[in-house]
Amino acid sequence: MTKIIGVISIKGGVGKTTAVTNLANVLSNEFDKKVLVVDANFSAPTLALYLGLKEYDFSLHDVLNDKIPVSDAILKHNLGFDVIPSSLVPKKINPYDLKEKLEHLKEYYDIILLDSSPNLNEEILATMVASDELFVVSTPDHPTLKSTINAVNVAQKKKTPITGIILNRVRNKNFEVNLNDIELATSVPVLAVLPEDVKVLEALSRSIPVSNYYPKRDLSIEYKKLGGCIVGNSFKDNRFITKVKDVLKREIPKQEVNRSCMIEAIK
Ligand SMILES: Nc1ncnc2c1ncn2[C@@H]1O[C@H](COP(=O)(O)OP(=O)(O)O)[C@@H](O)[C@H]1O
Ligand SMILES: [Mg+2]
Repeated sequence: MTKIIGVISIKGGVGKTTAVTNLANVLSNEFDKKVLVVDANFSAPTLALYLGLKEYDFSLHDVLNDKIPVSDAILKHNLGFDVIPSSLVPKKINPYDLKEKLEHLKEYYDIILLDSSPNLNEEILATMVASDELFVVSTPDHPTLKSTINAVNVAQKKKTPITGIILNRVRNKNFEVNLNDIELATSVPVLAVLPEDVKVLEALSRSIPVSNYYPKRDLSIEYKKLGGCIVGNSFKDNRFITKVKDVLKREIPKQEVNRSCMIEAIK
């Protein structure tokens, strides 16, 4: 069964597009899934640029305006997944048509990832309506926690299940909002805790997802574990450093426990 997963937040710059590109990479290359990523950030799209796709003849806007069939807007990325970019030139569309257009693609893909707009208007609502499930991306600060609580509430009103929270750009400082604070405030499990890592920006400068450019970084391993829990498989981190850390570890991190629960639920 194809899953359409919307990656949302009601705040820009938290890491939605980064998460979508990295999940596309790990789902297709580590888990051998057929993946499509769609830029549903209609008014400020960046997905194609993150993936080095600078020129394209057609966009999601043309599909929504019934100018072309959806198959004509699909680009093949050399990392093994497909991409539907949005237009960099403003064009009037009805974002709510997205759901119906994606229905036709379900038979060709295992997973369709939607990169959402951060604006609380019909753009993000269209992503919520078109998705079977949602991930909310958050960062460990109070203003973003507020916006995450808001995103969870809006999604619940739209009746789209929220599978989990991706906590990004964590520096492990004691002033940060932590995983427990977020779970308590939202009642949604945190399924990944991604460190702040300058290599994300280095990889972006080459238009390559960091999980492909630096596959052994902690952040890349965390994306692989998150990808694994989406498809019901646990990803084994075989790095020597992890084996050493495991011996010294006193308890299993909560995000690991949450992922195991999700994998069990999928099985
Ligand atoms: N874990 C991270 N460590 C360091 N930089 C990050 C991390 N995640 C994202 N970034 C950077 O933060 C910026 C915003 O990320 P982006 O994915 O575009 O956010 P959004 O799509 O939510 O607006 C980008 O420059 C990206 O490279
Ligand atoms: Mg974005």
